[in-house]
Amino acid sequence: MSDTMLKVGFIGYGNMASAMAKGLVDFDCIEPTQIYACAKNYEKLVKNCAALGIQPCKSAEEVVQKSDMVIIAVKPYLVSEVVKDLDLRGKIVISVAVNVRYDDYEEIFPNFIHHLSILPNTPVSVGEGIFICEAKHSLTKEEWNQFNYLFGKIALIQSVETRLMGIAGTIAGCTPAYAAMYLEAMADAAVKHGLPRQIAYDLSAQVMIGTGKLYLVTKTHPGAMKDAVCSPGGTTIKGVSALEKNGFRGTIISAIDAVEGE
Ligand SMILES: NC(=O)c1ccc[n+]([C@@H]2O[C@H](COP(=O)([O-])OP(=O)(O)OC[C@H]3O[C@@H](n4cnc5c(N)ncnc54)[C@H](OP(=O)(O)O)[C@@H]3O)[C@@H](O)[C@H]2O)c1
Repeated sequence: MSDTMLKVGFIGYGNMASAMAKGLVDFDCIEPTQIYACAKNYEKLVKNCAALGIQPCKSAEEVVQKSDMVIIAVKPYLVSEVVKDLDLRGKIVISVAVNVRYDDYEEIFPNFIHHLSILPNTPVSVGEGIFICEAKHSLTKEEWNQFNYLFGKIALIQSVETRLMGIAGTIAGCTPAYAAMYLEAMADAAVKHGLPRQIAYDLSAQVMIGTGKLYLVTKTHPGAMKDAVCSPGGTTIKGVSALEKNGFRGTIISAIDAVEGE
């Protein structure tokens, strides 16, 4: 049972919006009946909304009228066209559109609107998301607290300066692909040595979750976490040495450079 009366509306209900709605509903952050959404294709929207029991709306205007918090979740090139005629005064406006930042919205909105640009990632659907938030925003302290209270249960919320939105967004949004490749490679190795495929995936995934959680809870330096499982002359340090010989850390850094530029 949720403990908030806040009504949340999505303008655009595709991959990102539905991941956020699923996280909110599955983790009891809010009742499904407090969530509204609109999209381009209404028939498809009705089916998608039925999966979670949220309320489909026929237009963005209807979403705005019914919601306290309005989440702009259309493709970035559509943002201006979709929001320019909406009356968003008095609403908490959250944008998830990549690269549409505070200054862009100040040009798009005709009135003073309380808005925040964020970069979420889809693991929010299983309560393990990341929301990179642009530090420059116009929410009141109370609105910011409401946003944190609602989504803090299903995502790590991190504010960064505007100039760091790109790199933070790359870490949150792109590196799940790298982590999935690591998971697959680890399982391939395990299968090569005889472990059934499903067990291999499950163990490798839990190692990633557990290691990440250990860091977040204890804030132990990653090098010290590695040292803690490498006994002198033991087997793990031999594996670490093989990773270094093959440029493991340099490869990861190059993969980020490839997205961000050198
Ligand atoms: N996917 C991610 O991992 C991710 C991560 C970070 C940020 N984002 C951001 O999230 C936003 C949405 O991305 P997405 O991946 O969810 O895209 P998507 O799956 O293509 O969803 C876009 C949604 O917008 C709807 N739409 C299109 N035109 C509309 C209109 N005129 N009025 C109302 N709704 C309209 C679409 O409806 P129809 O389906 O009926 O056409 C669809 O529901 C983007 O700005 C993206 O930059 C996405």
